[in-house]
Amino acid sequence: MAWTKLATTAELPAGALIEVEHGDGYVALCNVDGEVRAIDGACPHQGGPLGEGALNGEFVTCPWHMWDFHSVTGACAFNENVRVAVYPVRTDGDAILIDVPNA
Ligand code: FES
Repeated sequence: MAWTKLATTAELPAGALIEVEHGDGYVALCNVDGEVRAIDGACPHQGGPLGEGALNGEFVTCPWHMWDFHSVTGACAFNENVRVAVYPVRTDGDAILIDVPNA
């Protein structure tokens, strides 16, 4: 495990979606009814910034062409063969920790 602190709970209230930098890329963090979830920040379509999109229920909507990705499975809403990576998340006090590769 390579748990890395990427944000605080104060930065991610319920209903929020934020983009955080990690290494050479970005992670999109969202809070769905109090449950923090993490997906890769780059849209598999054309690399749009998922963390700058919108959170619609369980789905993160890419701001570029509006593709929706499920925040738990990473699957695209209209084609589950198109997926974005999802990462394990835990909180420690007010810290949001993500287990991301190469952390
Ligand atoms: S880049 Fe995300 S939907 Fe096109």
